[in-house]
Amino acid sequence: PHDLNCLTIAELEALAYERMDKQTRDYYNEGADAGTTLSENISAYSKYRIRPRVLRDISQIDTTVDVFGHKNSSPFGVAPTAMQKLAHSDGELATARACKSKGIVMGLSSFSTSTLEDVAEASEANPNVLQLYLFEDRAHSTKLIDRAKKAGYKAVLLTVDTPMLGRRNLEIRNQFKLPAHLSIANFVDQGEDEGEDDNDGASGSTASTQTTTTNASSSSSSLSTDNTDSPNNGTTTTTADKPLRSTPRQNPHKRRANTSSKRNSNPNPKPKTKTKTKTKTKTKPKQSVAGYHDGHKRHPPTGPITFHTHAANPTLSWEESIPWLKSRAGPEMQVWVKGVATAEDATLAVHHGVDGIVVSNHGGRQLNGALATLDALPEVVAAVNREVPVHVDGGIRHGSDVFKALALGADFCWVGRPVLWGLAYKGRDGVELCLRLLMDEFRLCMGLAGVTSVKEISKEYLCRVDRDGF
Ligand code: FNR
Repeated sequence: PHDLNCLTIAELEALAYERMDKQTRDYYNEGADAGTTLSENISAYSKYRIRPRVLRDISQIDTTVDVFGHKNSSPFGVAPTAMQKLAHSDGELATARACKSKGIVMGLSSFSTSTLEDVAEASEANPNVLQLYLFEDRAHSTKLIDRAKKAGYKAVLLTVDTPMLGRRNLEIRNQFKLPAHLSIANFVDQGEDEGEDDNDGASGSTASTQTTTTNASSSSSSLSTDNTDSPNNGTTTTTADKPLRSTPRQNPHKRRANTSSKRNSNPNPKPKTKTKTKTKTKTKPKQSVAGYHDGHKRHPPTGPITFHTHAANPTLSWEESIPWLKSRAGPEMQVWVKGVATAEDATLAVHHGVDGIVVSNHGGRQLNGALATLDALPEVVAAVNREVPVHVDGGIRHGSDVFKALALGADFCWVGRPVLWGLAYKGRDGVELCLRLLMDEFRLCMGLAGVTSVKEISKEYLCRVDRDGF
């Protein structure tokens, strides 16, 4: 049965628009800076046309694919997006139930407004993966990873495109703040809670964002990246959560290597004096990273774990972060990187033994001016050479977009904002509607293109609209 008010994702977007308050709408829909990467993520799909084949028996179409050891009903999943209770009071639980009923894998953001355990329970046997922001205070990440493992998550997707937080001007102007009745559920008991008013979600101090964004430093209440030394940045970490240090190796990523040696050789580390009464520096070296950002000192984020204070982590590196994460995830959970957009990094990812790659630019919310993900996809696919699966997200607004991404070599896609629109429209039913639209469109596209199984979808079914590409 159709919802006659909503037969397309574009209509879903419009219906959701009316149902969200301005802060939520802006937060969900915005891209970084001028939003060109966000819009190009979408328009990139219209550069391609499908070359349909005819007179093939397509009476039996199989849209399923295997992903994370599970049969997914269509080759896309729900991308992890933070704070879903902003859209609907059932938040991530509604999304999980919709995914379960449609047989679609769900990615849960670290910064969800429901706990990962509750989401796992709502998902029953349907598989979930956990998106991870690896915090500078690894103790928090360790706990989260262990909880995900226990709750049966199949993989962690380490978001790697957020060493600093992208500049989102509406978010700043709106002074984005998570409403008091919501919480960043996975961390409610963690971080120092000293009764500050920025107890959840964003810090409220957006004014300081304007002045600190470019420095990515300073005020701990900045909406911008307020990040710290990684536990291994200095050499004094002695906690049980000390990261495993991988043996230094020849690595093509020269720039990162130089940066870290510069940081480590800082002769005058100056810990930042905190204004807070209690800080959680005991597990961190008392060393700032002078010179890392325009000569400004950084200091570890303290206080409640919020998206705006803790998500970005400029200290992540291939050499340290991936081995640490792999060892922590153990054999139970796969380790993926989400946010790779070049052949070089895809090669490094394979070199460091990740289980898969998500080509992503965070839905255009991080580096504006970055290549549309569909345009970045072919070089990544070529570099990976089928050694690990390659997924893609960003700008998928129709089932035929999934078809095009697969034809360009992706194994699987992830869909972000449309799911949030479904959630805002009608909670679980709205997410189911969103998934159903995309699934139906994809199936129809397969049939009309003359394809009966997903693995048949290849470059032969696609051409550039200008016909220059192939
Ligand atoms: C995101 N995304 C995201 N990614 C991530 O790794 N961790 C997160 O917490 C979030 N949160 C988040 C919130 C909102 C409101 C949006 C729109 C996006 C990025 C997300 O996983 C995905 O990469 C993009 O949403 C894909 O682009 P589309 O499908 O939204 O165009």
